[in-house]
Amino acid sequence: MDLFEYQARDIFEKHGVPVLGGIVASTPEEARAGAQALGGGTVVVKAQVKVGGRGKAGGVKLAHTPDEAAEKASEILGMDIKGHTVHQVMIAAGAKIAQEYYFSVVLDRSERRYLAMASVEGGMEIEQLAVERPDALARVAVDPLVGIDAAKAAEIAAAAGFAPDVAGPIAQVFVKLWDVYKGEDATLVEVNPLVRTEDGSIVALDGKITLDGNADFRHRDHADLEDAASADPLEARAKAKGLNYVKLDGTVGVIGNGAGLVMSTLDVVALAGQLHGGVKPANFLDIGGGASAEVMANGLDIILSDPQVKSVFVNVFGGITACDEVANGIVAALEILGDHATKPLVVRLDGNNVVEGRAILAAAAHPLVTLADTMDGGAAKAAQLANA
Ligand SMILES: Nc1ncnc2c1ncn2[C@@H]1O[C@H](COP(=O)(O)OP(=O)(O)OP(=O)(O)O)[C@@H](O)[C@H]1O
Ligand SMILES: [Mg+2]
Repeated sequence: MDLFEYQARDIFEKHGVPVLGGIVASTPEEARAGAQALGGGTVVVKAQVKVGGRGKAGGVKLAHTPDEAAEKASEILGMDIKGHTVHQVMIAAGAKIAQEYYFSVVLDRSERRYLAMASVEGGMEIEQLAVERPDALARVAVDPLVGIDAAKAAEIAAAAGFAPDVAGPIAQVFVKLWDVYKGEDATLVEVNPLVRTEDGSIVALDGKITLDGNADFRHRDHADLEDAASADPLEARAKAKGLNYVKLDGTVGVIGNGAGLVMSTLDVVALAGQLHGGVKPANFLDIGGGASAEVMANGLDIILSDPQVKSVFVNVFGGITACDEVANGIVAALEILGDHATKPLVVRLDGNNVVEGRAILAAAAHPLVTLADTMDGGAAKAAQLANA
């Protein structure tokens, strides 16, 4: 789960990372009150969206008075930044910046460890810097069992070329940021910019945190960080039913068992779609190992509720849950859904008890169901129906 900047700011504060005051606002009036609460001086009004490049998009604006903060907030609220609508701004105390730096820790799966990156040239152009002058971005491997202790932090500061007077204080902040990374079970902590202010202190002026959902059981408080308001309603419904569902843009609904099979099905549908008006998969839905009638009904119900869906491709490989059980599940699901089932279904079954499974569907002869022998054939049929 990616966090908003204001959430990252609060977590930084909890772990002792130096931050400035920050108050969330969803109306210009709240922005004015926030600026007032921060002392009435200069503030920065910042769009809270989970996407980079807010500054360049006009989502970060300076305001010298509370009235100006309200004015800037009204400009930024409702703005669209790379497809994300701004519903909230953070009113941040204004820093007098002497220098902007960059720091991040990420999970380096291929090396089975963590990677810290730091640069004395932080700010909004870091992606460009990484491409054009990779040497200006220090990359230091972090041993998961040791983490970023004082020695590792000093190594990172030295690799990035921090001046001797800054290296000490900045290394202390690196250690605290590692404490955030480890303590919260993050897979990403990024600060851009981490700044030195005119009075010489080090402050995190921006923050991106990605939390590892696999560790949620260790962090009951992380559930509160979820952005329920902007979650896709179908995704929320699927989650409540324990289904693994991700909404996509296309028109062919996809149901499969096992993430690998569903991923392959998406590819095959996208490929077949090229011959049928460019139709694409509408979703990812993995009903998992035990495709009971109820699970199948829940899955179909979610997919059929998506107005964009024109056809559905059910692609199941019978294993422990054999094809006849899946077929019974589909028949029962269509009964449960009754008039709610309105879109054509292409079903491809293979694996354990496939003959029995196909016989059950053939005998049921539901008018919406077409049987397919192969995955490619099923994808082509579903794409054709979606394009009809
Ligand atoms: N509290 C602040 N006080 C003074 N200047 C700030 C403050 N916050 C941000 N800035 C300035 O605005 C710039 C952009 O801010 P920020 O890094 O938060 O947004 P961004 O980098 O455009 O967004 P993103 O990180 O999402 O790409 C910073 O590099 C910094 O110069
Ligand atoms: Mg930034």
